[in-house]
Amino acid sequence: MPQPNDSRLQYDPTATKAILPADLWDDLAPQLLAARDETLADVELLHSGNPVPAEKEPLDAGFIELPRELLDEAAVNEKTSLLERIETTAAGLRKDFDRVVVLGIGGSHMGMRALFEALRHPYHNELKREQRDGLPRLTFQGNNLDNDASQGLLDLLAHGNRERLEDRWGVIVISKSGSTLETAVAFRLFRDALEQLYGADSDECRRFIVPVTGEAGKLRALSNEAGYQHVFPIPDDVGGRFSVFTAVGLLPAAVLGLDVRRLLAGAADMTDRFRNEPPGQNPVLDYVATGHLCEHERGLTTRVLSTWGGRLEAVGLWYDQLLSESLGKHEQGATPITVVNTRDLHSRGQQHQEGRRDKLITNVVVDTPSSTPLALPSSSFDQDNLNRLAGRTMPEFLTAAIAGTNQAYADADRPTADIRLPCLDEFALGHLLQMLMLATVVEGRLVNINPDGQPGVEAYLRNMQAKLDRS
Ligand code: PA5
Repeated sequence: MPQPNDSRLQYDPTATKAILPADLWDDLAPQLLAARDETLADVELLHSGNPVPAEKEPLDAGFIELPRELLDEAAVNEKTSLLERIETTAAGLRKDFDRVVVLGIGGSHMGMRALFEALRHPYHNELKREQRDGLPRLTFQGNNLDNDASQGLLDLLAHGNRERLEDRWGVIVISKSGSTLETAVAFRLFRDALEQLYGADSDECRRFIVPVTGEAGKLRALSNEAGYQHVFPIPDDVGGRFSVFTAVGLLPAAVLGLDVRRLLAGAADMTDRFRNEPPGQNPVLDYVATGHLCEHERGLTTRVLSTWGGRLEAVGLWYDQLLSESLGKHEQGATPITVVNTRDLHSRGQQHQEGRRDKLITNVVVDTPSSTPLALPSSSFDQDNLNRLAGRTMPEFLTAAIAGTNQAYADADRPTADIRLPCLDEFALGHLLQMLMLATVVEGRLVNINPDGQPGVEAYLRNMQAKLDRS
């Protein structure tokens, strides 16, 4: 197991604590601990095999211990473990084609995207194969009913030569239920295109189409019938938006050359911290306390996740879905918004500084960039008056922007909190995503909202299906 501490995140709500009285935090601590106990008891309940009481249904707490379980399984029996199968399949696919098209929507899309954008080169798909260390390009579809986007990708893939590695591509199709219309429609379209390239009954089609799906359902049935060589499971007790550490996120991540064991190690370490650390030192409980108190004591119903750097935008969008679908129920639930700064200081910043007082701003800051700091060159044209800053680096500018923005919010009594990541690597991402998933569940338990299931989404699906069947 890699040493965790150098990539552990810190959660710091000091600036909000300066605004909300200390006794509110103290009074909340017993309820937070009770919500933690309930969350951990739910895991025990699932493991016990006893029936889940009706008021707890649906209960998707399987994600909490899953990272540790997958690592333990590999430690005990490497050869037959799911991790070994994911890594071996991924290594084979990497050699076989130069692009992987990942089909999926919602929880079967957003986590993987977050990992890809945070951890791979920002221009990964534009790099030559050798600059990508032989890793395939990654393209997403099936996350919309968007004719132009789908046709655009089909245009890009059409007329390839199956003998040329750069023209060869494969599909990972992800759907837990196996019946989501967006994904199923895209799968038909891209399966057809793949069959045109390799031949309908080809060995390539059987190997290069890799479904990730639940144990039952239409996609599982189709996969069995078609005889796809690799099919990966999504456990029943892990909800879609909590599934990033199942094959849903791990398989595409492994195809992209990411160290999935370090991802899991980061997530498992966060579960340990959640289980063992007291309020005041526990990032999950402290994060929940900040959001809860701001919402219920100050009416701050908008949560701005302020990511400082474009590579974290997809993490923010993943979190938008997680919070919205989990807690947006019974006319409750804060509204999440992701911003990327400094970009959005020039669009949303005005409103956050002087608009309605309904926002808690949580900064996500990475202390060390993954690449060498860019220094500002001096120039014989100093009309821009930047020579005074020559030699200063981009990270120094960013640090000044973060400090200046936080200061401006503090001066206006606008609450902020910071999530600080020492760097962007697999461990840190695993740590961060698991923290946000745990916090979402604990907050649900705290306010008596079941974080699992999404009955409101089912309503649109039923209506859409009925209209399609009628017309
Ligand atoms: O969190 C959820 O459960 C949803 O967002 C699902 O992930 C999404 O609706 C896709 O479902 P499926 O994986 O069954 O296609």
